Amino acid sequence: MALRFEILGRFNRARAAQLTLPHFVCQTPLFMPVGTQGTIKGLTTSQLEEIGCQIILGNTYHLALRPTSELIDELGGLHKFMNWPRALLTDSGGFQMVSLLHLADITEKGVTFQSPVDGKPMLLTPEESIQIQNRIGADIIMALDDVVKTTITGPRIEEAMYRTLRWIDRCIAAHKRPHDQNLFGIVQGGLDPVLRDICVKGLVDRDLPGYAIGGLAGGEDKDSFWRVVAQCTAALPEDKPRYVMGVGYPLDIVVCSALGADMYDCVYPTRTARFGTALVPEGVLKLKHQAMAHDTRPIDQMCECMVCKNYSRAYIHCLVTKDAMGSQLLSYHNLFYMMKLSRDLHSSIVEGRFPEFVCKFLQKMFPEGD
Ligand code: GUN
Ligand code: ZN
Repeated sequence: MALRFEILGRFNRARAAQLTLPHFVCQTPLFMPVGTQGTIKGLTTSQLEEIGCQIILGNTYHLALRPTSELIDELGGLHKFMNWPRALLTDSGGFQMVSLLHLADITEKGVTFQSPVDGKPMLLTPEESIQIQNRIGADIIMALDDVVKTTITGPRIEEAMYRTLRWIDRCIAAHKRPHDQNLFGIVQGGLDPVLRDICVKGLVDRDLPGYAIGGLAGGEDKDSFWRVVAQCTAALPEDKPRYVMGVGYPLDIVVCSALGADMYDCVYPTRTARFGTALVPEGVLKLKHQAMAHDTRPIDQMCECMVCKNYSRAYIHCLVTKDAMGSQLLSYHNLFYMMKLSRDLHSSIVEGRFPEFVCKFLQKMFPEGD
């Protein structure tokens, strides 16, 4: 195992921990920004460090196509290639193919898809996904899983869960760097508590360094989503990190942390920035709105980020959709907001004031009468 997970504080089911990875010592709960081609769109790695990012996500699927994992390996691994000294996590690739390519098809062998480069049919097996991730060299690598949308029902959910369990053994067998890369298993099973339970037990038996809860944030209602998270966190081992994949919105991160989850990733803060939206304690602020044109205030008066210290809403309004700087400034602010949320969750749990923090967070987001 190439990680250490020390719980520093708890409040009921919520935990704050120190997660020591080969490249960085992280504090949880923690949000991981998503980079696709070895970059968080529009930000330099020194800006990411300045914001307080501890770990960022890379996508095996994108990196394998370009520049290819062989080239990344030859150039000394992804950390060196993208000049990122802190921790990295790569997702296994299957989820991205299924969600991005409509032609992807899953069989027992792996995920088959048409190459977007030359249209040739290709196959990503659990073994290949791990081999590629071993070459990329992230601190945490993810098992290849069979993901189905939570909104579908029937035997396909059960098939995907059992296949995910069969594939975990192929991933474990293929993993060549357990001394410096941590392989996380992914719990599947849709919204069915019986299937989720079988999957958790199967993965826990494999004694992995950490566990993810997958297949969520795909259009199911909040009640079902939170119920699955609550069930899985209750059944997963106390002393291992728990990662809810593809989540999320600030509110979801607060709720999932209260339910005992530790790690999150989502494209939302950077994607919404590119559409002109800023994350603020009250919810969102749409910089494209005409009302911003004459507004000399910063995005958020209380925010201590470089953008809020230096630029007005009017200036960002003027740039948004016209110059790349607009989305860069908004991405910077939005990730700063997510990092501050992670730090606030951590310190409020450690200092025994998690309920007060959650109350204040909710009161700001949902003021009386709204
Ligand atoms: N990203 C968001 N959800 C998932 C999931 O269920 N599996 C994988 N591999 N990646 C994800
Ligand atoms: Zn700011």
